[in-house]
Amino acid sequence: MSTLHRVNVGLDERAYEVLIGPGLLSRAGELLGELIPRRRTVIVTDAHVAALYGEALGAALKASGIACSLIVLPPGEETKSFTWLETLCDRLLEAKLDRGDVIIALGGGVIGDLTGFAAAIFKRGMDFIQIPTTLLSQVDSSVGGKTAIDTARGKNLIGAFHQPRRVLADLDVLASLPLREVRAGYAEVVKYGLLGDLVFFEGLEARVTEVLALESDALGWAVAQSVAMKAQIVMEDERETGRRALLNLGHTFGHALEAETGFGGDLLHGEAVGAGMALAFRFSAAEGLCSRQDAVRAERAIAAGGLPVRMDQAAGAPFRLDALMSHMGQDKKAEGGAITLVLARAIGDAFVQKNVSPERLAAFLASEGAI
Ligand code: GLY
Repeated sequence: MSTLHRVNVGLDERAYEVLIGPGLLSRAGELLGELIPRRRTVIVTDAHVAALYGEALGAALKASGIACSLIVLPPGEETKSFTWLETLCDRLLEAKLDRGDVIIALGGGVIGDLTGFAAAIFKRGMDFIQIPTTLLSQVDSSVGGKTAIDTARGKNLIGAFHQPRRVLADLDVLASLPLREVRAGYAEVVKYGLLGDLVFFEGLEARVTEVLALESDALGWAVAQSVAMKAQIVMEDERETGRRALLNLGHTFGHALEAETGFGGDLLHGEAVGAGMALAFRFSAAEGLCSRQDAVRAERAIAAGGLPVRMDQAAGAPFRLDALMSHMGQDKKAEGGAITLVLARAIGDAFVQKNVSPERLAAFLASEGAI
């Protein structure tokens, strides 16, 4: 039995629902219609997703009397740039949209982040709806209102908090993803268990094969649990002044590996996060903060998702110690050069550690094979 899961992100007047289930794209008119009172919208997507789902979404909206046009951007991280932001804003102006209109982001994290940011600044802010088409964007980037573009100096450095009006996570669209992308998305799923929910983690240990095979019940459960946990954290700390930073478990280590590999797709974000979470648990154990058994158990669960858990398993290895240390010192979460990491006391019990000793971190990375 396939279920429609509804998760509420309770942010007062900006509250919204995340709908999760199979077959939602074809019900877009019914599920989104009330948010589009002017009965017209623009769908922003990339060429790859447009070919797969653009027509189906357009037809579903049209069946409910909603006219729509498509803005199709190139696929890939390079599109999250000032140049494409300008192009997108120009196209929205050409479409004669104004603040009373709503646009739809149909795609993965790149399209969601860019479209959300364009919506945040277009005529000082307009509504947008997220229809995420990757596992990673369904469980993470489409929920919580972080929108951004990259610059030459780093990823996501220019952006805004701008919550969507609704998120439609259609599980059926994940069937077109390569297995490697599913695994990369799974890194963010297992992250929720590792950072704050032992029971969910144990469920994932038992159901990893079904989830990766996109078996409907297991997948719906895993996505809904992940989104519910993210919603809870976002409701407590929308603008990341505290607890929301826990969502960065594995990201500071992972970001350093990605930066060294060149963000070019050789090492996917989720793969870097997988290795990064294993490193965070092993560093926690090395620091005497959590047990070695928990570090090993975390590592097994990440590896069961087909993800790297050691640096030498990640594309880009071997990694230079001084380069990794420099990236970790420049991370967005670093304050005045001091290194902040999300570490763990146990599986399901992560915390933010400020002022991590650079000497002990460097010694740890060297012991992990950094040269
Ligand atoms: N992806 C981390 C966050 O939304 O806070």
